[in-house]
Amino acid sequence: MPIPDSFIDELVARNDIVDTVSSYVALTKKGSNYWGLCPFHNEKTPSFSVSASKQIYHCFGCGKGGGVISFVMEQENLAFPDAVRLLAQRAGLEMPEELQNAGDGKRRERLLQLNREAARYFHANLSQPEARAGVDYLNHRGLSRRTVTNFGLGYAPDSWDGLISAMSARGYTKGDLLEGGLAVKNSSGRIYDRFRGRVMFPIIDIRGNVIGFGGRVLDDSTPKYLNSPDTPVYNKSRNLFALNIAKKSKRGQMILTEGYMDTISLHQAGFDCAVASLGTSLTQEHAQLLSRYAKEVIIAYDGDGAGVNAAQRAIRIFEKTGLQVKILQVQGAKDPDEFIKKYGPEAFERLLTQSENHIEYRLLQVQKKYNLEEDSQKVAYLKEAAGLVAGLTSPVEREVYGRKAAQAARFDAAAMMQEVERTRKSQTWKARKQEERRELTPAVQSQPKNRAFKYENVSSALAEEGVLRLVLLDPTLARKAEALKQEDFSSPLLGKIFGLLLQRWREGKELQAAALAGALEPEEMSHLASILQKPESLANGEQALSDYIRKIQMEQVKRANANGLDPLLAYREKKAMEDRK
Ligand code: GTP
Ligand code: MN
Repeated sequence: MPIPDSFIDELVARNDIVDTVSSYVALTKKGSNYWGLCPFHNEKTPSFSVSASKQIYHCFGCGKGGGVISFVMEQENLAFPDAVRLLAQRAGLEMPEELQNAGDGKRRERLLQLNREAARYFHANLSQPEARAGVDYLNHRGLSRRTVTNFGLGYAPDSWDGLISAMSARGYTKGDLLEGGLAVKNSSGRIYDRFRGRVMFPIIDIRGNVIGFGGRVLDDSTPKYLNSPDTPVYNKSRNLFALNIAKKSKRGQMILTEGYMDTISLHQAGFDCAVASLGTSLTQEHAQLLSRYAKEVIIAYDGDGAGVNAAQRAIRIFEKTGLQVKILQVQGAKDPDEFIKKYGPEAFERLLTQSENHIEYRLLQVQKKYNLEEDSQKVAYLKEAAGLVAGLTSPVEREVYGRKAAQAARFDAAAMMQEVERTRKSQTWKARKQEERRELTPAVQSQPKNRAFKYENVSSALAEEGVLRLVLLDPTLARKAEALKQEDFSSPLLGKIFGLLLQRWREGKELQAAALAGALEPEEMSHLASILQKPESLANGEQALSDYIRKIQMEQVKRANANGLDPLLAYREKKAMEDRK
């Protein structure tokens, strides 16, 4: 059941964007806008703006934007109906009755409830005789009773329907368990427990909801770990194991490991800022999530080749978020868990403080590629290392790491620094050339930041943007804009937005960007906000609108001609050609 537009309009009217954003971000008024540090990417100077008059937010850094509903969706990681529900609650608006028991939110709530009950069941099993093997396993891994309780660890008995029957006694159907990823259906249609004979690790989100599970076998059988599949409440690329605990840490850093056991061992040893990505490689979303809670992240992956490769990949992802990255290398053990067991927490603390920042780490990787005893390889090494060091913006850093790189090859430091500065000059020269070339083509600057929305016809698209701005600033102009049809727009996205607005206007509804959050994808909403944030004067609104409309129509005719869509014109041209013969 869709949420009625009238309800959305009321909701948007009652939740002022400045108030709402202020409860998450410190804002200061400058000019006509409010500014703050963007909550969606890591930054040191504010590029996140909120406009009270347009009721939109827009980040000049990462490009995210939209109205109040989009903001809550993004910030709270909620689907549209759930964001609406939350805002309704805040504004003291009662959800329309027919919606209260329907929709996504109710389904999500039920799945979350089911997951919580399942976690309780797995945990309670530990005191049952059938779980002997599971309890022994946890003990053998050195986990204290307290750790087991803190993480809510549990055991899934080796049975086909242990969980199914326990949950059906609590009113959950097999369908619920399938949807929650807790049961599976085989080809003959039989439905049985997904997790059998495994110790269970509940995955808990930052709000404290149990959203999924990992389960480990007790022996060497495979798969070693089984994880919940993605479900309506669990998305592995958006969640990190133990972040619910680590987010409260006072260490000001996050330790990222590869596995459940690494993370749990670290917590038990007092490193309460450890998290793990779950059976998946690190994503941009993980990195952004971490950047909300700490300035520095230490990658503590396994010491094997796979771990090193994964760390290299992770560095590049973290760099985009502006987080400081360090790499910790476990020595004398295969992973952090084994390291702590062998050498104790103090030794791990030493590893942490010695952990190399990513430049050192990368230099080391470069070093490993070459045999520095051979002259030709030595030269190749120095060139590659100089390239790396030259990319550092701080001259002090260039000096320090340039020297280190030289030392490793027993090479003269001054000569190395010369090579670094030479490389640097040619790098900046290349970058400047590229920048100049870009500035020479102004059309590039008019293109949307998001490549998916690339404009095919920039001059028409700019006029189309203008129409959207004017109509949203002054809805009385919509009557005049009716001269345009959605099909006249060269940009499918701008046309779609125009179509939505016109339809709302014809139905006598409010024209406001924020209300489109349900009809547009978040990226589309962001693009709309970036358009609205551009200046537009209403002083000569009518005239400006006519100019835009004429431009759009002219470009439309041109396009039609180019496509040979105007038969009359095509005929005339053909005739003219023939006459000339
Ligand atoms: P222990 O052997 O229990 O110490 O595990 P570990 O954390 O050392 O495991 P490993 O380094 O082998 O794997 C790291 C992480 O990858 C695990 O915590 C799981 O999240 C995931 N993983 C490992 N094996 C599997 C598997 O067979 N299937 C899936 N889906 N994920 C796995
Ligand atoms: Mn391990």
